[in-house]
Amino acid sequence: MRSFQYLCATAAPVMMLGMTLLSGCDSAPGQPRKGSESLAPNEVMEFSTLYADNCAGCHGAEGRGGAAIALADPVYQGIADETTMRKLIANGVSGTSMPAFAQSAAGALTDKQVDVITTGIRSRWCRPEILDGANPPSYAAKSAGDAQRGEAAYRTFCESCHGPGGQGGSKGSAITNDSFLALVSDQGLRTIVIAGRPELGAPDWRGNVPGKPMSEQEVTDVVTWLASRRVPNPGQPYFVTNSVAAVYDRRFYSNEQGKTGGHRPPLQKESDHVE
Ligand code: HEC
Ligand code: HEC
Repeated sequence: MRSFQYLCATAAPVMMLGMTLLSGCDSAPGQPRKGSESLAPNEVMEFSTLYADNCAGCHGAEGRGGAAIALADPVYQGIADETTMRKLIANGVSGTSMPAFAQSAAGALTDKQVDVITTGIRSRWCRPEILDGANPPSYAAKSAGDAQRGEAAYRTFCESCHGPGGQGGSKGSAITNDSFLALVSDQGLRTIVIAGRPELGAPDWRGNVPGKPMSEQEVTDVVTWLASRRVPNPGQPYFVTNSVAAVYDRRFYSNEQGKTGGHRPPLQKESDHVE
């Protein structure tokens, strides 16, 4: 497929040429031998070291997946493009555990190191031939989603594993759990719906119902439905409002009205109680 070949094209040859030129002075007299010195963190330019030190903890050794997706999954590489990936690596994904790595975004890596990682991932793991003939939904949503249609799509494509309402089933975990949804972006959900988590047995967009790949719109709708299940105060087993004063009121004043436990802390003056 032409579009994948384009998506997988990298700047790797240019980078490699640059690195060959840079390493030309190794044997100059008086220079420490290669390997006898240790590099400052911002001088490390080797992909495997950079990947192992910065990414493997979450994305797994060799990109095989861990807490976060397998970056070596050719389906993922087939839908993502290099420019988008580079931006994600540089700036992270806010609200999730994906950190920003570029120094310009308060990360630890130089722009060159971010380039080495990005082009290294592409040159090693992007294998367009694997998707030859398949026509996956696009990486980013092309249209607005509809939560109601998404719920129906959920029943068709996901419920058999993730259970009624996404609350977990025998073959898949709870994916409408408020804490889970609070820590994943909409794109993160979309990526998983399209590429699956093959290393964990989660099918890609083709494999949920045999012989019935999901359409672009069905993917968009199901993500919209999942996103609509987010709650304002995730991870709370009890009701919370935004107002500290209101919480304070409920806790102490209701106790005064004869409920169990606790007592109202002493207020110096009535004016100390800020609404
Ligand atoms: C602390 C865990 C953690 C580390 C370390 C980490 N990531 Fe991630 N990464 C994540 C999570 C979680 C997501 C999904 C975020 C979301 O919900 O969109 C993610 C998403 C991504 C994505 C985007 C996936 C998509 O949907 O398109 C890329 C690319 C990526 N990471 C690359 C890297 C690279 C390269 C490194 C190392 C330089 C790295 N990550 C380090 C946790 C991590
Ligand atoms: C054949 C069973 C199966 C089907 C069908 C399926 N999944 Fe999954 N899914 C899994 C497994 C297995 C995992 C990985 C382990 C886990 O989280 O349960 C997973 C993981 C996920 C995750 C990541 C959960 C996490 O904890 O990181 C999301 C999100 C998800 N699936 C969404 C969906 C959606 C949406 C659909 C329907 C479009 C779907 N899945 C269809 C089996 C399935």
